[in-house]
Amino acid sequence: MSAAGWSLKTLPTMDEQQFLLWRDLLESRTGIFVTEQRKSFLQSSLMQRMRELSYDDYQTYYEFVVNAPLGKIEWAKLIDRLTVQETRFFRDPAAFEYIAELINQYHGQYSKKNPLDIWSVGCSTGEEVYSLAMMAKEVLLRHGENDAFIITGTDISVPALNKARQGIFPKRRIETLSEHYKNKYFSQTDDDQFELLAEIKRNTCFAQVNVLQLDKTASTQRHVIYCQNLLIYFRRQRREEILNHLVDRLIPGGLLLIGMGEMLDWHHPDLIPVEDKSITAYIKRVNQKNN
Ligand SMILES: C[S@@+](CC[C@H](N)C(=O)[O-])C[C@H]1O[C@@H](n2cnc3c(N)ncnc32)[C@H](O)[C@@H]1O
Repeated sequence: MSAAGWSLKTLPTMDEQQFLLWRDLLESRTGIFVTEQRKSFLQSSLMQRMRELSYDDYQTYYEFVVNAPLGKIEWAKLIDRLTVQETRFFRDPAAFEYIAELINQYHGQYSKKNPLDIWSVGCSTGEEVYSLAMMAKEVLLRHGENDAFIITGTDISVPALNKARQGIFPKRRIETLSEHYKNKYFSQTDDDQFELLAEIKRNTCFAQVNVLQLDKTASTQRHVIYCQNLLIYFRRQRREEILNHLVDRLIPGGLLLIGMGEMLDWHHPDLIPVEDKSITAYIKRVNQKNN
């Protein structure tokens, strides 16, 4: 049958056993926990990929992903379909305002040699990283230190990271940005898209990091760790484990910012909650036994 004919075929509904198999695979490799309510998302994402590869049963495709020599490569592509990558520039204005205020207050501490170091964890296609970069640049510019910052974006999805590195966005993605940011930091490409200027890109970098493997990554100490709309996909215990690792990677006095409601009733002995009801953030204590 031709590929076109095949693609019209409806794939069978996923039975409970298959659902559990895929759910567990996804959780063990990424931490993402698919609830019963989100079963249809898992099923339709798998179906889409299976259609492309002409698989018509979940079990055979599962075995390919888990056991075949090319399974690892396939997993890297599949993960892009199984994760929610929704993002936008300045998605949480209150959080950005808070960080801007903090940078303004402590600007004297940052220099080219000791730049302000911000980490965007689960950065998707880069909008969050570039928002942080434009904002940092604006604030530091007021004090004549416009290049004294570095923003690192990490994500599990290689395709998302590749888009992020390009820093090119269709018009609709930048529509919510103020005219000031659009005019100052983007250039229009020949195909009517918008590209971040080199002066912003050069202060950013992107890398693949799975937050389940933070213990295997460099323990660089950051001034700000920005982790929004990622923990929400994990079970509570996993969220706690990840947050504990993030705290270890924060300098004393550094800021950890997570999404509102993503971790209720959580306390860490090294952190002081920020008393601002519009954000969920913590400052790392300065006087700790081990420092
Ligand atoms: C909804 S997006 C959030 C993007 C951005 N932080 C924001 O708030 O706009 C979630 C991102 O987390 C990434 N992600 C999911 N599981 C991950 C994991 N185990 N390690 C690292 N990133 C992960 C996804 O690929 C996706 O890009």
